[in-house]
Amino acid sequence: MIAKAKWLLLTAFVIFFQTSWSQSDAYTDKHRPQIHFSPKKGWMNDPNGMVYLNGKYHLFYQHNPDKPVWGPMHWGHAVSTDLVHWEELPIALYPDALGTIFSGSAVIDKDNTAGFGANAMVAIYTSHSHAMEKDGFDKIETQSIAYSLDEGKTWTKYKGNPVVPNPGIRDFRDPKVMWYEPAQKWIMTLAVTDHIDFYSSPDLKNWTKESEFGKNLGAHGGVWECPDLFPLSLNGEEVWVLIVNINPGGPNGGSAAQYFTGKFDGHVFTPNETDTKWIDYGPDDYAGITWSNTGDRKIFLGWMSNWMYANVVPTEKWRSANTIARDLSIEKAGGKYLVRSVPSPEISRLYTKNYTAKNVKVKNLDVTAKAGQLTGGAELKFDSDELKAFNIVLSNNNGEKVVIGYDKAANNYFIDRSASGKSDFHKDFTNTLTAPRLSANKNADIILVIDDASVELFADGGLSVMTAIFFPQSNYTDITITSTEKLTIKNLVFNHLNSAWK
Ligand code: FRU
Repeated sequence: MIAKAKWLLLTAFVIFFQTSWSQSDAYTDKHRPQIHFSPKKGWMNDPNGMVYLNGKYHLFYQHNPDKPVWGPMHWGHAVSTDLVHWEELPIALYPDALGTIFSGSAVIDKDNTAGFGANAMVAIYTSHSHAMEKDGFDKIETQSIAYSLDEGKTWTKYKGNPVVPNPGIRDFRDPKVMWYEPAQKWIMTLAVTDHIDFYSSPDLKNWTKESEFGKNLGAHGGVWECPDLFPLSLNGEEVWVLIVNINPGGPNGGSAAQYFTGKFDGHVFTPNETDTKWIDYGPDDYAGITWSNTGDRKIFLGWMSNWMYANVVPTEKWRSANTIARDLSIEKAGGKYLVRSVPSPEISRLYTKNYTAKNVKVKNLDVTAKAGQLTGGAELKFDSDELKAFNIVLSNNNGEKVVIGYDKAANNYFIDRSASGKSDFHKDFTNTLTAPRLSANKNADIILVIDDASVELFADGGLSVMTAIFFPQSNYTDITITSTEKLTIKNLVFNHLNSAWK
C-alpha cells in the first residue's frame, strides 16, 4: 500500500516536473519573443478569426503544426484576457476534403442569422485545394464556414460548404466579415488578385456580390491579400477604413499592409484619397487585421515577418511571432485622413521596473546606465518640443546592434539592421528601412517597443509606424540615445517589461 502511494507520488511529481519544464522551456529558446505571441512549435503566419467573446480575445492563426515552415494550413488557436498574456489551445480547424484552411475571420452571430445557435462563433475562411492546384485547375480557392458553440474549442464545418464558389480566379481568398447594422446584413470583404470584392449576406450562408474596388488604385506591386473593412469615428464623422495587405510591393520590399479611407454604404466603397498609405512602413508587419466584436474599439494585430524570408529566419522549433496588439484611430492631417496605430494600453500589464527623467539634453545618453540592462521586453517613450535627428542604438557585447532613428534631412524615420546579427539568410535583410514622417508638427513623440528579436516604432502618435525583426547572437543588453543636434527630451520613460510567459 505504502509502496503504491509512493509510486503514485513519484509519478505525480514526474508529470508535474515535465509539464512545468516543457511549459517554460517552450518560451526560452533562442530568439523567442518574450512579449509577443508565437506558437510553441511549428510554423505560424497570418492572424485569423480574431474575435472577442465573454472577456476573451481569441486569436486563430495560419499554422503548420508539424514543421517550422509553411505547409498544410490549419487554424491554430490562442486566447488572452488582456492582449498580452496568451494561452495556446488545441488546433481549431483541420484541413478537409475541400482543402487546407487558409486565412479568414470570425464573427459572433448574436441574432442566430445562420441558425447555428444564438451567439455562435462562426469562422469564415478560404478552403484551398492543393489537389486541384496540382492538376492545374484555377478554381482552387472557395470560401467556407464553420461554427463553434463552446467558445472556439470545438468546431463543426457547415455541410453546404463552400458558401462562395470560385468564379474561375486563381487568387480568391481571405474573407473578412462584419455586421453592417444599417442594412441588417453581413458584409464580406474578399481579396481577389488585384482588387477587392464586396459580398453581402443575410445569414452567412448565401452571399451576393455587391461591388469591386481598387483595380487601379493604391499599390499593385503584388497580389492583394487579407483585407479588412471597418468604420472609425473622427469627432462624430464616420470614416471607413479598408486595409489591403499586399505581397510583394511593400514600401521596404516584400509584404506590407496598405490602407484606404472613405465611405461605405453597404454596397460600394468610395475612397477619400487614392494615394498609397501604409499601416506600418517596416518590413515585418503583414496580414494585419482587426478583432471583431470589440464595439467602437478597433484592435489590430499583424504577423511579424515578411514572405521574403519568413521560411528561412534562424529559429529552430518554431517560426514567427505576431506584432503587439495596437489600437487604431483616425486623424485628419494636411487635409488627409490618416490611420494612427499605438500599442494597446494593456501593454502596461507587463510593466515592472521603470526609469523616468525630465528635460534631458541628449548628446550621448546611456539609458542602460540609468535604467539597467535590457533583459527581454522593454518600452521606451519620449517626447520633445522640437524633433531633431536622433539614433536609438540597441547593442550587445558581440558588437551587434540595431539603430532606430530620425533623419532630419530626409524627414524619414529609419531602422538600420545591417549589423543586427544573423542576416545571411536573405540578401535584402540588411537594407536600410525607412518611413516618411507624416506629421507636420514641430513637436514629436516616440514609442519604441523592444523584444529579444524585434522592435516596433510608433512615431508622432502612431502616424509613422515601423516594425522590424532581427537575430543577434546574444540578446541586446544596452540602449543608448544619441543626437548630433542635441535633442531635448521633455519626458523620458523607460519601462522594463515582464515576460508574458512567466
Ligand atoms: C497571406 C496569405 C493569405 C493566405 C495565407 C496562406 O500571408 O498568403 O493570402 O490565405 O497566407 O497561408
